[in-house]
Amino acid sequence: MNSLEVQRLQRLSQALLCGQPKAQRDPAYPSWHLAPPVGLLNDPNGFIHDGHRWHLFYQWNPFACEHGPKCWGHWSSDDLLHWRHQPVALVPAEDYDRDGCYSGSAVVDDAGRLSLLYSGNIECGNDTRIGTQCLAVANEQGLFDKLGPVLPVPEGYTGNVRDPKVWRHQGQWYMVLGAQTQAMTGEVLLFRSADLRQWRQVGVVAGAHRQGLGEFGYMWECPDLFDLQDRETSWQVLICSPQGLPALGDRFANLHQSGYFVGALDYDSGKLSHGAFYELDLGFDFYAPQTALGPDGRRLLYGWMAMADDSEASHPSIEQGWLHCMTAPRELSLHQGRLRQRPARELRRLRGELRHWQGPACQAPRLRADRAELIVQVQGPFELDLRGQASLRWDGATLTLQRRSWHQGRLEQRRWHGRLDRLQLLLDHSSLECFINDGEAVMSMRYYPANDSLNLAFSGHGPLRLEHWPLAATGSGGC
Ligand code: FRU
Repeated sequence: MNSLEVQRLQRLSQALLCGQPKAQRDPAYPSWHLAPPVGLLNDPNGFIHDGHRWHLFYQWNPFACEHGPKCWGHWSSDDLLHWRHQPVALVPAEDYDRDGCYSGSAVVDDAGRLSLLYSGNIECGNDTRIGTQCLAVANEQGLFDKLGPVLPVPEGYTGNVRDPKVWRHQGQWYMVLGAQTQAMTGEVLLFRSADLRQWRQVGVVAGAHRQGLGEFGYMWECPDLFDLQDRETSWQVLICSPQGLPALGDRFANLHQSGYFVGALDYDSGKLSHGAFYELDLGFDFYAPQTALGPDGRRLLYGWMAMADDSEASHPSIEQGWLHCMTAPRELSLHQGRLRQRPARELRRLRGELRHWQGPACQAPRLRADRAELIVQVQGPFELDLRGQASLRWDGATLTLQRRSWHQGRLEQRRWHGRLDRLQLLLDHSSLECFINDGEAVMSMRYYPANDSLNLAFSGHGPLRLEHWPLAATGSGGC
């Protein structure tokens, strides 16, 4: 351990000792979503089921509620609901990662050891950086030994290359990497290795100005590539987070986007022949998702329920010493070329006593919304007020999610258009995830309701059928 690592670990323990009680007392702190013990959490990293249990690592700045030298926090779980804190996996301290152990993924290597591929970040001033891809391997104590860089910046690209996601295919390791060309366009690159140490570039998976995309952002972050069946056919799905897409009507409404392409990957050329880009979430707060394959073959996804825009620095939770959280885990499936996302079935085990109700919206009972799940069978227009700070309105053609932002109190809206049959809402103190028509679309957001307003209130004359459950609290990691 070098002196920078010792220093950072000492400061980290102080930040935890001083800050954790206050963060946990905050009424906005999630009761069943994963959030940082203190400081800022961003991307989910290293999400994996290692054959025994789940692991979820996270980008973590424990020192302040702002972006800075990121560590990898680490949780593990047997059931995707109750998570245990594990020793911090990576602390930035080496020449090649001193300004952050940036995002990456986990695999079980050929010797059965949990191995992390991550981006070592070095800041060079003037908003430039060098990203090298690094390897760390679990030792007998469950701590991670850093083995150093395994892949330098590839030729033709700026130092913005990061977020390796690695998987096994036909006896080889493959890695997708987010990248920026010297011409300042975003791409995803494919690499191959026999041993996780020596990597050779296979080609470009997808990118701006390729396959008819035209201008499509200046950097693509956090790629993920995996197989998914659509009836009898197996496809490859590329998830990525392009930065720099201008808004297009109701599409691309946030500062940065996360979405997917469905296609066929040629493992020899590295090219994914793909269709259109679709956003994964049409709400306000969703970015940098990562998936893992479960032991039962399900593809599960966690996202970062946040947006790094100009509202980030004024979240009220910063006063309480914590910032941001993960989404609920989602199950992915493919139907006629489009991804469907449903809350992971494990979440049903959080449900308390079911309450049923049916009738005109305006007569619906007031329902608790601080920690709850609500299923609405929609049969006509209605409006749903969420604790005085946000609302959902269905007018027969458009679903509008509105919130009063904590940032300068501005009113903001996001919209979805289509035929609405069913909404499934997941609520947790300061977040809402709204699943439309059994996962056809999702809208996620953070909000900060007044503490004395705990209820959902319906209005409108359209008939509704409701199912409502209070949800059990799991906390954000135990021991
Ligand atoms: C996405 C991201 C990644 C990077 C990490 C740094 O939110 O910018 O590209 O690895 O965050 O924390």
